Amino acid sequence: SAAEKGGHASFMLKEIAEQPRAVADTLLGRIDAEGSLRLDEVRIPPHELREVDKVVIVACGTAFHSGMIAKYAIEHWTRIPCETELASEFRYRDPILDHRTLVIAISQSGETMDTLMALRHAREQGAKVLAICNTNGSTIPRESDAVLYTHAGPEVAVASTKAFLTQLVACYLVALYLGQLRGTKWGDEIRTVIRQLSEISGAVGRVLETMEPVRALARSLAGHGTVLFLGRHVGYPVALEGALKLKELAYMHAEGFAAGELKHGPIALIEEGLPVVVVVPPPRGRSVLHDKIVSNIQEIRARGARTVVIAEEGDEAVVPYADHLIRIPITPTLLQPLVSTVPLQVFACELATARGNDVDQPRNLAKSVTVE
Ligand code: AGP
Repeated sequence: SAAEKGGHASFMLKEIAEQPRAVADTLLGRIDAEGSLRLDEVRIPPHELREVDKVVIVACGTAFHSGMIAKYAIEHWTRIPCETELASEFRYRDPILDHRTLVIAISQSGETMDTLMALRHAREQGAKVLAICNTNGSTIPRESDAVLYTHAGPEVAVASTKAFLTQLVACYLVALYLGQLRGTKWGDEIRTVIRQLSEISGAVGRVLETMEPVRALARSLAGHGTVLFLGRHVGYPVALEGALKLKELAYMHAEGFAAGELKHGPIALIEEGLPVVVVVPPPRGRSVLHDKIVSNIQEIRARGARTVVIAEEGDEAVVPYADHLIRIPITPTLLQPLVSTVPLQVFACELATARGNDVDQPRNLAKSVTVE
């Protein structure tokens, strides 16, 4: 009913709008007065976490994209090797796991069969499993050694939005917590990032206030058949997530690529008028990849692409090559997905609506996939 949607036209729009609150709630009570993380709720003893020598993340769909981003954060702040794998692929390749492996299973519903089977396999091999989950008491956290709940609140729309942002927050918390426990050389940076994370919900809110041009752009592209998404580093999974949202909601051909791969094949797809969304890392000085992405934008534009550029406020280098420019607040590089994903959600939702699709109940999809 309209009341359940809180005055929004769809659950998806309501859940997009709830993201600043969801992000804040997921941080609530987890940062102490000294600015350190308190994750006593994660019931794996600190001495066991200090001994972990490998992290493996398993998840599906949007949750998998949050896991891809987590890999960058975990390896950077903890120096523990981390791999992220589709839950549906994981156990079929005989993965190498033992008691020093920490497996992180990420799931909004806590009922996804592929993820559940992956974690069962991991535990059989002696690995410890930490669930990141949004649904209290669901099967995945019940079968895990420990759980860190996301506090997004119930997510009704099939397309995941607020659950994704809170999964990211939970992943950053785990990465920073492991870094804090193990005392890496990034100690000062970890404290700074915990503070920046505690302020990020305001930045998500500011993005939401500036989405009107994104909606107008989405409507203008409703007649197109294909949209491509490019990103690098943590912007790469964001590109994949933008493409997934467009597939599941707008039923369009959408693909995400790592921008560095362009010249290895995908650039052949570029033709006159093709919309290409590019997620740009923070400017030079804070990201060594910025210049490289700017040349990618130049290259695809020279071949006719219509460029939709998502870049930080104050990033002037992209201006000459952006047919459409979407500004996002200044954030640390690793946290940028928390703000850069939001315009992509709004874009897909509006484009799907313009095509006459039901964004809450896209065709052929279920909210929770409880079969393999
Ligand atoms: C997201 O928009 C999708 N509907 C889907 O990819 C989802 O993220 C995936 O099925 C995993 O679900 P889970 O988080 O409940 O395990």
